[in-house]
Amino acid sequence: MNEPHPTDDVISIDGRQFSRRLFLAGSAAAMVPFALGSGAFGATRDRTVLKVGLIGCGGRGTGAAMQAISAENGTVVLHAMGDVFLDRAESALANLKEAAGEEGAARIQVTPERMFTGFDAYEKVIASGVDVVLLTTPPYFRPTHLKAAIAAGKHVFCEKPVAVDAPGVRSVLESAKLAKEKNLSIVCGFCWRYNNRHRALWERVHSGAIGDVRAYYSTYNASPLGTRKRDPAWSEMEFQLRNWQHFTWLSGDHIVEQAVHSIDKQGWTFQDAPPLSVVAVGGRQARVGEERGDVYDHFSATYEYANGARAFHMCRQIDNCANDNSDWIWGTKGDALVNGWQPLHRITGANAWDYEGPDNDMYQQEHDELIASIRAGTPKNDGEWVAHSTLLAIMARMAAYTGQQVSWQQALESNEMLGPRELAFGDAPKVIVPVPGITKLS
Ligand SMILES: NC(=O)c1ccc[n+]([C@@H]2O[C@H](COP(=O)([O-])OP(=O)(O)OC[C@H]3O[C@@H](n4cnc5c(N)ncnc54)[C@H](O)[C@@H]3O)[C@@H](O)[C@H]2O)c1
Repeated sequence: MNEPHPTDDVISIDGRQFSRRLFLAGSAAAMVPFALGSGAFGATRDRTVLKVGLIGCGGRGTGAAMQAISAENGTVVLHAMGDVFLDRAESALANLKEAAGEEGAARIQVTPERMFTGFDAYEKVIASGVDVVLLTTPPYFRPTHLKAAIAAGKHVFCEKPVAVDAPGVRSVLESAKLAKEKNLSIVCGFCWRYNNRHRALWERVHSGAIGDVRAYYSTYNASPLGTRKRDPAWSEMEFQLRNWQHFTWLSGDHIVEQAVHSIDKQGWTFQDAPPLSVVAVGGRQARVGEERGDVYDHFSATYEYANGARAFHMCRQIDNCANDNSDWIWGTKGDALVNGWQPLHRITGANAWDYEGPDNDMYQQEHDELIASIRAGTPKNDGEWVAHSTLLAIMARMAAYTGQQVSWQQALESNEMLGPRELAFGDAPKVIVPVPGITKLS
């Protein structure tokens, strides 16, 4: 674990803190041989060093790369990087080198020949001789990148959400199935499922501590995300990519891109059983400016489950409002209340309980478990449930955009494909804000 120690030299990256002392504690990397051939899947568990490729070199990608090379005492190295933009790849590399310092430099093996840019950068990273890829681009690209990585026999860490539309979700389900057949690991950045406190609470809920779950309610009310002003030298495609969180085809809208963390915990509560249907409202009241694209700024959704249980979700990205990120679970014998950031993990009722165990760094945990699964030859495959959690959020967006009730089956079978058919720097999809009752379900 890379939990910062008060006296450590603490490095900040991706808005998170890393302990240089602990990062360097396993500096065996400086001593192990790096000359390993690129390998077919299955052989990775026996390698002295695992080579990692980063695809999508933004804030989260830089953090994930740092966590990957911090796993397993220095036997994981960053081998290649790819981003659609050169400036992003270069700044990520500079940040990583600074964070690793002189002593950790051996874990960053990226050479100029293994820095790739453009829309096909992912193919080049995958083909560069890596064992593991980190998929941390905007979510629109995830299904394509995941498919290519699994086809090439690579283990994967991929960020959430894993798609922006149902065809993307179906593609991820196929990749997850293929990964199983090929004994490849897929670990996903739905990080709360890697948090000790959350794991302990949900384990209790699943073992009946609050009886049968009757209702779940979550909030993801936060501030708007940052934007980039248009540079006249940019094409429309570059402008949208630089502001990707605000364009539905790239992000899925904020209910799919951000609030999906809470909706994932809803899925977890119901042991990943799909709901019957969802109704939702949403709109765009306070977003101003072309860089804020076409995404809504608030949603509220009600899901119905087969046993009559209901799940409610509210999310908002508007300044100067009451922010909150909590989860409530009501059962027949008690209730659970969670606030990951306070942190608060409490069960009341017949089996009252408060979390008293150790904390962990959930982001580091993801990579520790990924690498351990590769070494043990026991692949970890999050693919199916992460695809389902992503669809849970997509179906609420579909219901809000159209004003229709959307069944799980309708959502899963939808042929609506967001985004352009071909990717190139030039035009980009038209910016159209959906209107319930007018926007059609497809
Ligand atoms: N689990 C978490 O807590 C958490 C936190 C932050 C972000 N995320 C997720 O991580 C992903 C990335 O978010 P971020 O905050 O790092 O965004 P970011 O904008 O900082 O980084 C995205 C990077 O991907 C690059 N990119 C865009 N299209 C690409 C393509 N086709 N090929 C290669 N590179 C491409 C961009 O240039 C940029 O450098 C998102 O899915 C986001 O939801 C998860």
